[in-house]
Amino acid sequence: MSLPRSSCYFLSLICILSSLYITPSLSDDTSYAKSLIKFKQSLTNTTMLDNDWKEPLVQNLCTSNKPNWIGCLCLNGSFVGLRLENMGLGGVIDVESLSELPLFSLSVMHNHFSGPFPKDINKLGKLRSLYLENNSFSGEIHDDAFNGMKAMRKVVLGYNLFTGKIPMSLLKLPKLVDLEVQNNQFEGRIPDFWQGNLTVNFSYNKLEGAIPDHLSNQNASFFFGNNNLCGKPLQPCKPKKYSISKIAFIVAAVVGIALAAFIILFLICRKREKPLKYKKSIDKYQTEEPNYKNNEYGKLYFVRNDRERFDLEELLRASAEVLGSGSFGSSYKAVLFSGQAYVVRRFRQMSNVGKEDFYEHMRRLGRLSHPNLLPLVGFYYRKEEKLLITDYVENGSLASHLHGKRSPNQPGLDWPTRLRIIKGVAKGLAYLYKELPTITVPHGHLKSSNVLLNKKYEPILSDYALIPVINKDHAQQFTVAYKSPESTKNDHVTRKTDVWSLGILILELLTGRFPANYLKQGRGPSSDLATWVNSVVREEWTGEVFDKDMNMGRHGEGQMLRLLKIGMCCCEWDIQKRWDLREAVEKIEELKERDSDDDDDYSSYVSEGDLYSSRAMTDEGFSFSKA
Ligand SMILES: *[C@@H]1O[C@H](CO)[C@@H](O)[C@H](O)[C@H]1NC(C)=O
Ligand SMILES: *[C@@H]1O[C@H](CO)[C@@H](O)[C@H](O)[C@H]1NC(C)=O
Ligand SMILES: *[C@@H]1O[C@H](CO)[C@@H](O)[C@H](O)[C@H]1NC(C)=O
Ligand SMILES: *[C@@H]1O[C@H](CO)[C@@H](O)[C@H](O)[C@H]1NC(C)=O
Ligand SMILES: *[C@@H]1O[C@H](CO)[C@@H](O)[C@H](O)[C@H]1NC(C)=O
Ligand SMILES: *[C@@H]1O[C@H](CO)[C@@H](O)[C@H](O)[C@H]1NC(C)=O
Repeated sequence: MSLPRSSCYFLSLICILSSLYITPSLSDDTSYAKSLIKFKQSLTNTTMLDNDWKEPLVQNLCTSNKPNWIGCLCLNGSFVGLRLENMGLGGVIDVESLSELPLFSLSVMHNHFSGPFPKDINKLGKLRSLYLENNSFSGEIHDDAFNGMKAMRKVVLGYNLFTGKIPMSLLKLPKLVDLEVQNNQFEGRIPDFWQGNLTVNFSYNKLEGAIPDHLSNQNASFFFGNNNLCGKPLQPCKPKKYSISKIAFIVAAVVGIALAAFIILFLICRKREKPLKYKKSIDKYQTEEPNYKNNEYGKLYFVRNDRERFDLEELLRASAEVLGSGSFGSSYKAVLFSGQAYVVRRFRQMSNVGKEDFYEHMRRLGRLSHPNLLPLVGFYYRKEEKLLITDYVENGSLASHLHGKRSPNQPGLDWPTRLRIIKGVAKGLAYLYKELPTITVPHGHLKSSNVLLNKKYEPILSDYALIPVINKDHAQQFTVAYKSPESTKNDHVTRKTDVWSLGILILELLTGRFPANYLKQGRGPSSDLATWVNSVVREEWTGEVFDKDMNMGRHGEGQMLRLLKIGMCCCEWDIQKRWDLREAVEKIEELKERDSDDDDDYSSYVSEGDLYSSRAMTDEGFSFSKA
C-alpha cells in the first residue's frame, strides 16, 4: 500500500483537472452501455436509473471524472465501477453482464436486494471493493465464493441476513484490508485471518470459539454481540459457568483496590497534617519553597490565584466519582463542599524530572490562560505519585460525542459546531505554541478524548504539555505524539508532531470514524494507523466520506472538502512536506460555514462524485496497468 504522502498535491490536482473540464476521451463505451442495460433487465424498481440507462446508448459513459449515466464511477474519462446506492433497487444481480465491464468497484448498499449472495461473483476478476451492506441478502455464502479475486481489498456485507460460516476463500485474498460482516447471522468460528493491515467488524452475529491470534489487537467492539466468542481482545476462553462470577470478581477487586487506595491516602494525610489554611497565595508558596521537604504530605500546591483554596483532606472528603482510567492514569471528579467540581488525576509515571523542575513546570502551566485550554488549578506532589487538579468541564469529550451512544432524539454534532470546534482547537494549539517555545511537542496528547466540550460546545484542550515530566518509556507507550510516523520510525518527535495529531483529529471529526492509532497500545509499527488514514482518504471512494450526522446540505460541502484537504496536509508522512502549525492554523481560520458564490476552486467544480473519483486517483495502487 502506498503512504498518504502526496495526497495534498493530488487533491489540488483534482481541482485543476475538474475546473478545466478535460476533453472527453475518444473511447467508445457503447458496448459497456449495452451490458449495463442488460444488467438492468434483471433488476426491479429501476426508476432512478430509467432516465439515463436507455437507448440511444451514450458513446461515452464518462467525461473526465463525471459520469454521463447515473451510478457510474469514472476516472480520467474511463468507466471503473458502479455505485448504485439508496435507489430502492431489488431483483437479481446479473454477474454475467457485469463481467463484460471493467469493474473495479461495485456498490449496491442501502437497497432492497434479497435472496442469495450474487452467484459467481468471482467472475469479476478485477473487483477491488464489493459493498452489499444494508440489503436483505440471505442464506449461506459458498466457501469458494471469493476464489481467485486477487485484487479484492474491501468486502462489506454488514446489515444483511447471511447465515452459515464465514467463507474460507476470504483467506485467499492477499490484499484484503477491510472485512465488515456485522449484523448478520454468521455462525461457527472466525477463520484464521492472516492478512496484514486488515480491519474487521464481526459484531452482532452468532459466531463462537476463540478469536484468532492475528485479530487479537483489534478493538473489542468489533466482536461484540456474538454467541460465545472468547480470547483477546475479549475475555479469555474459559468454561462458561465461571465467566460471570469472574467478571464480578474483577469488578469487585478493582473497586476494592481503588477504595483502599483512597482510604490509605486519607489516613496518611490525617496523621501527618492538620488541615491547611486555605488562603495561601502563590507568592507565599514560593517563599516557602525551601521548606517543602517538611511538608511532603497533605499539601496541595495552587498554581493560580483566581480559584478557591482547599486542602487535600477536603478534597478526599469531597464526594468523588471515578471518571475513568485514561492512558496516563485514573481520574476522579470531586465536588467540594462549596459545590465547585474539580477533576483530580493520579499519575504514577511522572518522575522524569526532579522536584524543583516539576514545580517549575507546573507553575509554568499555571500561568497559561486561554479560553480553549483546560486550566491547571493545582497539584499534589509525592515522589511516587502526583495528583493534578483541573476544572471540571460539563459536556464530556469530543470523542464521546462522536462515538458514544446517543439517545434517539439527540442530534449529532452538525457541521457549524464541528467547524467551531476545530477552530477552537487550532486557537488553543496556537496559544500553546506561542507560550511554550522551548517545549518540542507543546501538546503531545491531542486526541478527541482530550478535547472537552463546554455547555456551548466550545472545545477545551486537556492533557497538554505533559511530555516533559512524563517518564520517557511511559510517554512512548501512551502519548499520541509517539504514534506519529517520525516517532515510530526514527524515534524522534518534532514541533510538527502535534500537527500530525491535528490532522488525525480533523479526519476523525469529518468522517465520524474512530482512528485506529488511538487504540494501539505500545509502540509497534503504526501500520494500522496507515491503513486508517488510507481507508479514510483513499480507499473508500464509494462509501460516504463525511459523517452523515453533520446534516450538511450542499452549502458547506466545499468548505468540508477544504478542511479534508487541510487534514490530509497535516497527515503528511514526510515531515519536510508536512505543514507547520502556523500554516495549518491559518488555513483553518479561513474556513467558513457555507460556501460563498465566488468560491470557484472547490465548491462549484468538485461534486461528490468527483471526490470519490479523486480518492481513486490518489490511490497509487489504482492503475489499470497493474494486475
Ligand atoms: C422503489 O424505489 C423508490 C426510490 O427509488 C423507493 O422509494 C421505493 O421504496 C422502492 N419500492 C420498492 C417496492 O422497493
Ligand atoms: C438502509 O437502507 C435504507 C434505504 O434502503 C436507509 O433508509 C437506511 O437508513 C439504511 N440503514 C442503515 C443502517 O444504513
Ligand atoms: C500495510 O500497510 C503499510 C502502509 O500502508 C504497507 O507499507 C505494508 O506493506 C502493508 N502490509 C501488508 C502486509 O500489506
Ligand atoms: C461495527 O459494527 C457495529 C454494529 O454491529 C457498529 O456499531 C460499529 O460502528 C461498526 N464499526 C465500524 C468501525 O464500522
Ligand atoms: C473501541 O472503539 C470504540 C469506538 O468505536 C471506542 O469508544 C472504544 O474506546 C474502543 N475500545 C478500545 C479498547 O480502545
Ligand atoms: C489520469 O490522468 C492523469 C493526468 O492526465 C495521469 O497522471 C494519471 O496517471 C491518470 N490516471 C490513470 C489511472 O490513468
